[in-house]
Amino acid sequence: MTTMTTTTTTTTTTSSAAPLLRVRDLRKHYTSPKRWLSPRKPSIQAVDGVSFSVARGETLSLVGESGCGKTTTAKSVLRLVEPSAGSVQLEGEELLTLTQEDMRMRRRDLQIIFQDPYASLNPRLTAGDIVAEPLRNFSMGDAAERRERVQWLFSRVGLRPEAAKSFRMSSRAASASGWALRARWR
Ligand SMILES: Nc1ncnc2c1ncn2[C@@H]1O[C@H](COP(=O)(O)OP(=O)(O)OP(=O)(O)O)[C@@H](O)[C@H]1O
Ligand SMILES: [Mg+2]
Repeated sequence: MTTMTTTTTTTTTTSSAAPLLRVRDLRKHYTSPKRWLSPRKPSIQAVDGVSFSVARGETLSLVGESGCGKTTTAKSVLRLVEPSAGSVQLEGEELLTLTQEDMRMRRRDLQIIFQDPYASLNPRLTAGDIVAEPLRNFSMGDAAERRERVQWLFSRVGLRPEAAKSFRMSSRAASASGWALRARWR
């Protein structure tokens, strides 16, 4: 049997009554495709009834053995995989019933930073292009404004402006990429 536990760290003392993120009875069951003459395999209950809340300023850790459903839980919250059942509310808004386009816009406020940034970043793009990619995806600013934004983000993580032209993505540049949407667009 696999189990998953949560630990919470509060980094600020300002926590309002309503949670920032509220997940209730989240389920994701994968069914294996039926093949000719082969018996249908039982479905995989990757996530089976997970509930938690995160307040503003809190950090929540999901802890458990490999395969217990940590990644599937995170992907389900962002609807990178469609959950089978449950509720995910961000600032009181139900995410699981949003249209694809509304969900796309809401993803500006939600992000996954994958365990291995090097495997999830495109090695054919320069560090500057990778950091600008979320801004391009959401049509934020024109090309010159995005370039300026990338320079500003690089300076925030202590990188020189020339690093934007590099194809070698340092961990600092990866962290600038994480900040591209989160830091307020001036
Ligand atoms: N696309 C998929 N199709 C079928 N089964 C899947 C799929 N993705 C994950 N699973 C299964 O769901 C279960 C949960 O996987 P998940 O990747 O969420 O675990 P995890 O806790 O993140 O593991 P790890 O610590 O190794 O990263 C596993 O049994 C996995 O094999
Ligand atoms: Mg995982």
